[in-house]
Amino acid sequence: MRLLIVGGLDGFIANAGKIALAKGAKVAHVNNIEAALLALRSGQGADLVMIDVALNVKELVQSLERERIYVSIVACGIKNDTDAAVKAIKAGAKEYIPLPPDPELIAAILQAVCNESSNILFADDKMKVQVQLAEKLAPSDANLMITGESGTGKEVMARFIHTHSKRADQKMVSLNCAAIPENLLESELFGHEKGAFTGAIARRIGKFEEANGGTLFLDEISEMDPRLQAKLLRAIQEREIDRVGGTKPIKVNIRLIATSNRNLLEEVKNKNFREDLYFRLNVLNIHLPPLRERPKDIDLLSQYFVHKFADENMVPRLPISEEARNVLNNYQWPGNVRELENTLHRAVLLSQGDKEISVDALKLVTQTGQSTTGQTNQNQKYDDANNPNLVGRTVSAVEKELILNTLEHCLWNRTHAATILGISIRTLRNKLKLYTDEGTQIPQGKEQRITG
Ligand SMILES: Nc1ncnc2c1ncn2[C@@H]1O[C@H](COP(=O)(O)OP(=O)(O)OP(=O)(O)O)[C@@H](O)[C@H]1O
Ligand SMILES: [Mg+2]
Repeated sequence: MRLLIVGGLDGFIANAGKIALAKGAKVAHVNNIEAALLALRSGQGADLVMIDVALNVKELVQSLERERIYVSIVACGIKNDTDAAVKAIKAGAKEYIPLPPDPELIAAILQAVCNESSNILFADDKMKVQVQLAEKLAPSDANLMITGESGTGKEVMARFIHTHSKRADQKMVSLNCAAIPENLLESELFGHEKGAFTGAIARRIGKFEEANGGTLFLDEISEMDPRLQAKLLRAIQEREIDRVGGTKPIKVNIRLIATSNRNLLEEVKNKNFREDLYFRLNVLNIHLPPLRERPKDIDLLSQYFVHKFADENMVPRLPISEEARNVLNNYQWPGNVRELENTLHRAVLLSQGDKEISVDALKLVTQTGQSTTGQTNQNQKYDDANNPNLVGRTVSAVEKELILNTLEHCLWNRTHAATILGISIRTLRNKLKLYTDEGTQIPQGKEQRITG
């Protein structure tokens, strides 16, 4: 996780930087917008930019848009200056942080934009086989594909492989192909030359060059459009890339790790994904089984998440009741480990003051109103037990409600929600854009980011 701090604010932002540093982020500091743009163009990318509201936030946001540089921006200002906060958000900042910084707030924001754990916990043999395979494949330089349903731990696995590879002391640069608007993805990957398009006022280094010598992690590669797939194939085959608007190819030495939570072979059959690219990427494959197929992991991970979130929130570590454990073990976990993590995060917060984590605190909803054993579980509470009468409502209204409820259940994680809804991330994104245009506020999910 790399943080770029822009501006001074009498040392307050620097303080925020120190907190971020202590949390394991790499922090760089520049004084003004021009210097920030220089840093971002030069391949010293950032996952998050923190900017002093006293600077022209709008100018930075607009410059980045013009130059097709995609990065999250958080504005910081002294105390709760509402006007400045509103102005910064309107200008395109994702968040506003009042200064002096609150360590917990900084931690929460860093957490929201990054998840850098390479620590894979497992107890189940099905997972053990995959981790052992990963250890074996990690030192090779061959491209690698990690497949598995949403939330099974593909990104954690990618980090695990990078840290066990020969490139461990080099960077791992990540890019989520689904989270980046299509028209920005090419620049983001390959960079561009001055004059390549109207806003390209200077050369910009893309992720391929940034990752040179290290690992490039392309998340959700199935979301890439066919033209970029062709360009990516060339980059892999020739080990060189062309910056957008560039005239000569540039040699790059990277190892590629890609993920997909769609069945790529199926996508190949349906002509949505190039077959030649598929075979180039899929030299080595690691498949993460869904959580429901590794029951021993459910207990272990549940324990781990309860401890983690209790410690983070400075509340006592409560035991999970027998009943709650049964429910956890019998639930289907369509959102896999991420859903389990979110469920227990919520449960830890809801159980404050209780003796144990009860079934009530899990708030799990099953579509049939039945437990996964097939019998109605009398003890399981459902968020929406009464079946509302749908007659008289329009399809689009019911669809909107379904989409928003599912998103809320997934703590606004788009990828996870799309999987549960059975629609593509792009379709979901288009629907959400429609709702936003209608004036509905949609919170950001965890995965709307680029990591590195
Ligand atoms: N084996 C594991 N041990 C500890 N934490 C895990 C494990 N697997 C997954 N997690 C946690 O679960 C969450 C989801 O994992 P991750 O982001 O790697 O999944 P993913 O397969 O990339 O999901 P998506 O398809 O939605 O991108 C993360 O917060 C991660 O830290
Ligand atoms: Mg992922």
